Amino acid sequence: MSVDSQRIARAAPNLEALRTALETFEGCPLKKTATNTVFGTGDPNADIMIIGEAPGAEEDRKGEPFVGASGHLLDRMLSAIGLARENIYITNVLFWRPPGNRNPTSAEVAACLPFVQRHIELVAPSILVFVGAAAAKTLLGRTEGISRLRGKWYGYQLPGATADAPPIPALAMFHPAYLLRTPAQKQFAWRDLLALRAKLEELT
Ligand code: URA
Repeated sequence: MSVDSQRIARAAPNLEALRTALETFEGCPLKKTATNTVFGTGDPNADIMIIGEAPGAEEDRKGEPFVGASGHLLDRMLSAIGLARENIYITNVLFWRPPGNRNPTSAEVAACLPFVQRHIELVAPSILVFVGAAAAKTLLGRTEGISRLRGKWYGYQLPGATADAPPIPALAMFHPAYLLRTPAQKQFAWRDLLALRAKLEELT
């Protein structure tokens, strides 16, 4: 993680400033091949913040996260538990599309991480949802695959938080793109969605 990206991200006092900082940040090579910076969408005061992996072709074109096929499934998943994308906040661990949707490198993830951390800090959600292995592993600092990580609650602690700062409850789930390819796994996603709904009711 570069000191530069950390310094720039921490200096952003609000979401608009963080978006502008990313739009002028040249520390992630993915930006050179992307059409748009894909920042975040939804309610900046939402109780739930969903973090996915990276923009795909459609997201890159529109500059908005989860607006392609995965996004449509995500919308249906949320609607199954009475939520709409307008009620939550959605972003990714990468703000630019990797060419051809290849997996991001660890250097690309590291360049974006301080911005993701500041993004979480500024939205300050009651609940975090990490969809897919990239988000779950990066933000939980774990190496297990998503099949092991999903369906459990973790406590996400912002770097630099004081010892008495309560961690944010965080749930890992399968990525909708994986569910589109492997519909038999939707039963697990359904369980996770119910756990999310229950946690939301408990906390709000
Ligand atoms: N997949 C993601 O992880 N994020 C998007 O924004 C779109 C597809």
